[in-house]
Amino acid sequence: MSILGAIKRLAAVGAVVLAAVSLQPTTTASAAPAPVVGGTRAAQGEFPFMVRLSMGCGGSLYSSTVVLTAAHCVGATGNNTSITATAGVVDLQSSSAVTSRSTKIYRAPGYNGYGKDWALIKLATPINLPTLNIATTTAYNTGTFTVAGWGAAVEGGAQQRYLLKASVPYVSDATCNSASWYNGAVITTDEICAGYAAGGTDTCQGDSGGPMFRTDNSGNFIQVGIVSWGDGCAQPRSPGVYTKVSTFASAIAAAAATL
Ligand code: ARG
Repeated sequence: MSILGAIKRLAAVGAVVLAAVSLQPTTTASAAPAPVVGGTRAAQGEFPFMVRLSMGCGGSLYSSTVVLTAAHCVGATGNNTSITATAGVVDLQSSSAVTSRSTKIYRAPGYNGYGKDWALIKLATPINLPTLNIATTTAYNTGTFTVAGWGAAVEGGAQQRYLLKASVPYVSDATCNSASWYNGAVITTDEICAGYAAGGTDTCQGDSGGPMFRTDNSGNFIQVGIVSWGDGCAQPRSPGVYTKVSTFASAIAAAAATL
């Protein structure tokens, strides 16, 4: 192998290791980085499909009894009654919060820590709130997106009591994978990047599993991404990396139908 080839290989390995490190959901005391960095408070009812999961992740209501989240937030496919979903409130301590317990997990087949970062959680009792449509084509994989979550508001910061939101612009696969950005670590079929070259606004630890969405041509919200990973939070040339929902839309629908 040429010297340049060896350097490129090393750089790619380094990027993958970084990705693996920042994939961990933050539920433990140590580093619970902030939820949405550079965000502002969401209004009560603004994003009624937002779900907080008890392991410290976000999610979205796919149906009244199914929550869409990230594979790295959950364990293996099978029966699981350990997760509580909280919805219907921006304030997690509100007495009007609606909660429901999990009965089953469906984790993306073949998930191994890279790409395919989606999962479904079946709920014991329905949550009767508006659901979030998922993008079934690539048509909306561009433009300005909204992200929201109760994750850290600064890298390394605490989880949040109130739902935060922010807007982030689409970043092309080519830019996102370029040398001074993620240098090839983004699996472009499975992942979509969003954020500013200068950083400053981003999802962060504890936002994982939550939706990235925009409005469709009818003016309805449509989910294009699932919070997956990033190198730190809101760092320059290190945008948030999101599961590309359009790639998995038919698999998600088929799986939901079995739950
Ligand atoms: N993996 C993180 C979590 O489990 C989400 C990281 C998102 N990072 C970012 N820079 N957008 O909560």
